[in-house]
Amino acid sequence: MIALEKASRPLKGDVFVPGDKSISHRSIMFGALAQGTTEVTGFLESADCLSTIDCFKKLGVLIEHSISPTNGVPTITVHGRGLHNFSAPTSTLYTGNSGTTTRLMSGILAAQPFDSMITGDNSIEKRPMKRIMKPLGQMGADVISVYGNDCAPLRFTGGKSLRGITYRNPVASAQVKSCIMLAGLYAEGDSVVYEPALSRNHTEIMLSAFGADIHNEVARDGSAVCILHPGMPLHGNKINVPGDISSAAYFIVAALMVPGSELLIRNVGINKTRAGILTVLNQMGADITLLNLDESGEPKADILVKYSELHGNENRQFVIGGKEIPTMIDELPVVAVLAATRDFDTIIKDAAELKIKESNRIDAVVQGLTKMGCDIEATEDGMIIHGGKPLKGADIDSHKDHRLAMSFAIAALAAEGTTRIMEDECVGISYPSFFKDLQALL
Ligand code: S3P
Repeated sequence: MIALEKASRPLKGDVFVPGDKSISHRSIMFGALAQGTTEVTGFLESADCLSTIDCFKKLGVLIEHSISPTNGVPTITVHGRGLHNFSAPTSTLYTGNSGTTTRLMSGILAAQPFDSMITGDNSIEKRPMKRIMKPLGQMGADVISVYGNDCAPLRFTGGKSLRGITYRNPVASAQVKSCIMLAGLYAEGDSVVYEPALSRNHTEIMLSAFGADIHNEVARDGSAVCILHPGMPLHGNKINVPGDISSAAYFIVAALMVPGSELLIRNVGINKTRAGILTVLNQMGADITLLNLDESGEPKADILVKYSELHGNENRQFVIGGKEIPTMIDELPVVAVLAATRDFDTIIKDAAELKIKESNRIDAVVQGLTKMGCDIEATEDGMIIHGGKPLKGADIDSHKDHRLAMSFAIAALAAEGTTRIMEDECVGISYPSFFKDLQALL
């Protein structure tokens, strides 16, 4: 449990957030699948990404941590085995709390010559896996849910020949898309995934850099398409992971919320498929400026954010929905916190996916913010926040969900009295030094 008080002065200074979680996972996975070595700097050393490393170690991949003697930079070196040279694991692969590890690894395991089993913690064992089992089955994989509930543990029977498929995913999901693309590397023929809006495209960017033939298109009906032609050799690479915009989001909201604040958040990934929070906050009138923009590979920039008055439309409403949602899905809890402090209504819609994240984030945000005095209601596919009522400190259940623990820590900065967050150690899933970094600004 951690106790936090209302911020007593403006937040000022420079912040470095740790490496991007999605990109860190992929750097290990694609490095393992490639021939030769891959060197990763800026890697996120959090529980989720360490789960990915553990899983690949169980498949016989040598992965080393070192500190560069010349510049002191921590580096992860992945000694790639190539697509066809993994060893059969001698125990179940354990993914902890990580949906990305579970779903992306599944695409790889489906194509191996050996049997395997994968599972994670209590939260992982409740998350829907039908969304990957169905397309993998269509590709010819043999995957079953051990308890027959379409959740992990998943058991793969090895030695299946896979074929490429064209798959129309009803929701935009980078985990599903990436799972199919990874299986597609092993398949006969092209793999094509349609999604209603483009989900984060780190797989496409990084796999291309490793040598794969993969790209995005826009279909005539406006849906996003990802196409992989298999057969190109993957070669080792050097990867520098930018800071995670999902982690930066907590400081962006904190600066917008605490009067007089001004923060410069350095070296943050601002890939358009991830940066919806910047677009939406700019539309609300937030004073956010991008500095030192670097668009080589994954785009990155320093984000300068200053306390701002925000506004809704002429009806004192602000609606967040549609294609914007996948570009800010993980940031919606902290955006809800910000909305609670403003005197207009914020309507979040088209975000039913929030219910099946590490926790049910619609119910948990509504429960926590209601306890803090906010007028907020859950809807089928999001929530409506009637902002402007003063927040008060409360005891908050994090549901062991890292993004909720951090969102409510930011809410505490605007709340009168003490806010206690239960099981706050879950921040280690994506941002182990979060509370230390936050305290340094208070
Ligand atoms: C992720 C994709 C998103 C996101 C998750 C990380 C990824 O999930 O919420 O935190 O790295 O591919 P979905 O693909 O389920 O939308």
